[in-house]
Amino acid sequence: VLTQVPATALATDLSRPPTTTWTVRAAKEVNYCVRVANNLLAPDDRTLITAGGTGSRDRRRRFLVVDAAVEALYGERLRRYLRRHGAEYEIRVVKADETVKTMETVLGIVAALDDFGIDRRRDPIIAVGGGVVLDIVGLVASLYRRHTPYVRVPTTLIGLVDAGIGVKTGVNHGVHKNRLGTYEAPAETLLDRSFIATLDSRQVSNGLAEILKIGLIKDRRLFELLERHGQQMLDEKLAGRTPNAEAAVREVLSRAVHGMLEELQPNLWEHTLERLVDYGHSFSPTIEMRALPELLHGEAVCVDMALTTVIARRRGQLSVSDRDRVLAVMRRLRLPVLAPVCRVDVLVDALRDTVRHRDGQQRIPLPVGIGGAVFANDITEEELASALEELTELAVAE
Ligand SMILES: NC(=O)c1ccc[n+]([C@@H]2O[C@H](COP(=O)([O-])OP(=O)(O)OC[C@H]3O[C@@H](n4cnc5c(N)ncnc54)[C@H](O)[C@@H]3O)[C@@H](O)[C@H]2O)c1
Repeated sequence: VLTQVPATALATDLSRPPTTTWTVRAAKEVNYCVRVANNLLAPDDRTLITAGGTGSRDRRRRFLVVDAAVEALYGERLRRYLRRHGAEYEIRVVKADETVKTMETVLGIVAALDDFGIDRRRDPIIAVGGGVVLDIVGLVASLYRRHTPYVRVPTTLIGLVDAGIGVKTGVNHGVHKNRLGTYEAPAETLLDRSFIATLDSRQVSNGLAEILKIGLIKDRRLFELLERHGQQMLDEKLAGRTPNAEAAVREVLSRAVHGMLEELQPNLWEHTLERLVDYGHSFSPTIEMRALPELLHGEAVCVDMALTTVIARRRGQLSVSDRDRVLAVMRRLRLPVLAPVCRVDVLVDALRDTVRHRDGQQRIPLPVGIGGAVFANDITEEELASALEELTELAVAE
């Protein structure tokens, strides 16, 4: 069960003798709600129109930022919904890909916000889209008049289980991904998986990789659910066409979100660099960048997880049969276990980069069986070379 961390505010002690140094300490309370809210655009559903606002006003103004693909598919329904609930609204459409994840896009949205005008205490900004739109709008919300409430409505699987539920915002800058960003919790995140019906199936696999990550390092039951139902989930795009499939989809999403939030909540500002959720994210940033545009994020993460699964097996932390189960689930989710860009020199570069990002240590989560993990700090080039060789043989044998 997730518990709320109590807020503590520590004021300066003014009863002491005159001084030239004042130390101000305050703890910022973070309190937001992530909730399943299927069928958000159903005409009579009030979840979306009341989300993040005071709900006490007759006159509602809503500024929405919507992914262009989502707007093309759901724009008409969304407008009908807003009209039905008597909202004055403005929809800013963003053609979302990594190239528009920039400060220019942020400033464009800010200008549109100024033109429209919102009451920042009552009228939340609503972001509807995948991780790109959610990250951009989060940054807008944290900058606009220092803080403006915003609601996240993720429409990709990555959004539902990852980008939509934490507090990170950001845009790319120069050649660096997410170089400019903030920590800004949404007022609310509404999880409506019906949006996944229109998502490209490769994008569904992409999101399943992040779910598999949670299963592998902390939730064996989640892994087993993916093993049993993952392929059907992918084929049905999470529609849950039979009672059994529906139950599996609900449990998988719920465990994935819960597992992720359990890891994020105690470390919202990322003070601790040993993060289980970094599993699959040690070698993958370099793999993803060098393979561009060939691999999606989740695909690069999966290659990293396949490699570290083999490393764990070679260290005796995982049995051969568990290793093979893990690789089989990856294939069933139509995720790659290896990519041409994976050469030893690239992996060594990746490791060096990760050490730099993790304050001088590797801190690499490595599986212990299925559903457990430890942090390793002693992975060597030789170890990487032999693991890569083993993984190559396994990938070819398939
Ligand atoms: N803030 C975080 O904690 C966090 C976590 C993970 C990822 N991210 C960021 O998220 C981004 C990746 O997010 P993503 O994988 O959601 O990609 P994305 O936002 O680029 O969306 C993927 C594609 O799907 C389309 N799309 C979105 N919803 C759709 C729908 N319902 N139907 C049809 N098409 C739809 C989009 O137009 C886009 O082409 C990256 O920029 C990454 O840095 C942030």
